[in-house]
Amino acid sequence: MSVTLRSQHWFGKEGKDGFIYRAWMKNQGFPDFEFRNRPVIGICNTWSELTPCNAHFRELAESVKRGILQAGGFPLEFPVMSLGESMMKPTTMLFRNLASMDVEETIRANPLDGVVLLCGCDKTTPSLVMGACSVNIPTIVVSGGPMLTGKFRGRDIGTSDIWHFSEEVRTGKMTQEELGHAEASMCRSRGHCAVMGTASTMACMVESIGLSLPENASIPAADSRRKVLAQMSGLRIVEMVKENLRLSDILTRNAFENAIMVNAAIGGSTNFVIHLLAIAGRIGVPLHLDDFDTLSANIPLVANLQPSGKYFMEDLYYAGGLPAVMKELDNCLHHACITANGKKVKENYAAADCYNRDIISTIENAFNPVSGIAVVKGNICEDGAVLKPSAASPHLMKHKGKAVVFENIEDYKNRIDDPLLDVDEHSVLVLKNVGLKGYPGMPEVGNMGLPKKLLEKGITDMVRISDGRMSGTGFGTVVLHISPEASAGGNFALIQNGDWVLLDVENRSLNIDLSAAEFQKRKTAWQAPPLPTDRGYVSLYIKHVEQANLGADLDFLKGHSGSEVSRDSH
Ligand code: FES
Repeated sequence: MSVTLRSQHWFGKEGKDGFIYRAWMKNQGFPDFEFRNRPVIGICNTWSELTPCNAHFRELAESVKRGILQAGGFPLEFPVMSLGESMMKPTTMLFRNLASMDVEETIRANPLDGVVLLCGCDKTTPSLVMGACSVNIPTIVVSGGPMLTGKFRGRDIGTSDIWHFSEEVRTGKMTQEELGHAEASMCRSRGHCAVMGTASTMACMVESIGLSLPENASIPAADSRRKVLAQMSGLRIVEMVKENLRLSDILTRNAFENAIMVNAAIGGSTNFVIHLLAIAGRIGVPLHLDDFDTLSANIPLVANLQPSGKYFMEDLYYAGGLPAVMKELDNCLHHACITANGKKVKENYAAADCYNRDIISTIENAFNPVSGIAVVKGNICEDGAVLKPSAASPHLMKHKGKAVVFENIEDYKNRIDDPLLDVDEHSVLVLKNVGLKGYPGMPEVGNMGLPKKLLEKGITDMVRISDGRMSGTGFGTVVLHISPEASAGGNFALIQNGDWVLLDVENRSLNIDLSAAEFQKRKTAWQAPPLPTDRGYVSLYIKHVEQANLGADLDFLKGHSGSEVSRDSH
């Protein structure tokens, strides 16, 4: 082996220091030869029973270990903070950066030559990749895989149906008992959400950007081939250490551009934007919010997956998986980007076949010509906001309506179903103070439910704008991530009931019809809301979190410190 193993700065030492590093490993029953001049591979595990999407990861880690051992490496599994999307209050996004710190410092502080990141539920992917980028040793990602498609009363269901079910219950079309049956029918296997939500979006991101083996994104969690992929990834990480193939070799500007184009073709989540900006910030690749719009402008939607389409991740796998999607984009993608298996990205998809054109269309006969992320700007979103055109209603893409303003989430919940609320289908629902500092943590409340009285009239979509996020499983004509957010003093804080809101997606603009003098008057009168807390991590977060258009990382975490640790522990 030509590379000097980082782990030998621990295990290769003579005298007292080496004794201590080795002796306390031997208490686990490892023989001496295991960690002498063998690549030591960390398996960074987000297993937790509080993260149901990742609850099968102990088993997956065993497959990774088999591969590492077979390749002559020494696997050491370690836990990191796990972020369960379905459980954590007020939102997992509040803790993404905290988890990334755990990952970064754990990798750097320990005798690791390479690392396998076990990612699944939404934030577990960006937090692990962000942390690993700040250390930059050889790294491969193994995703946990999507759940099997839900089956409910003769039809396929997935997480996007929660929004439909919720509105059916509110309007009396579905009983609570039926809702209970739907719960069990939807989450019937291990794995993360089965639609193209944020977890699947991020699994596709790691595959398209080159951080995993091909097929990582779509093999169902319950399919035995998921374990095979995990084992093969274990085999491969040992080789990556020998080749000294680091994250910075894979994560080039061109690789980021590939990921953005693929995200457009699959109808990926708006959360992709915020997480990719943060990852780019860690590895030091220049990436701007506008890049997401520019690079996806000519990419149609070729994957017919919920919430933009009809099918589920399981179907995508059987139809040819992400490689078949990427093959359709061959004319757009950068071919030479190196990927985790040591091959150029084109080599990974060149031989892919599509087995079902209803699920993966050709680019010429695309499922939907509209895709990607539209970035709008204007006098209430000076630094930008995002909208997912493929999940929006075409007739609302250019719209003028009167604002119905909710000052915060409690205000929204208290008044949305009030029969006296002055709202009709032409109104624009505005939700403030659900951003990074304001909530805090920017929860997925941006696709707020419609007023009951409009649902009863059969209205299914309205323009909704907020400084929050939307679940990747959500849909509708929703403008999200308004930057700067209301609580940070952005003009969005100044919008009032009855203001005319003008959304023009084609011209990428979002404004309110307000004179400069009135803007100034409101600005002078505006007062920053009180901080929700002045202690602990949340206080640190509120003080240091950057705005959504920059990736919402903590300002002092941007960039990387590398893998060197100059001082020993004893
Ligand atoms: Fe974990 Fe949807 S709740 S991926």
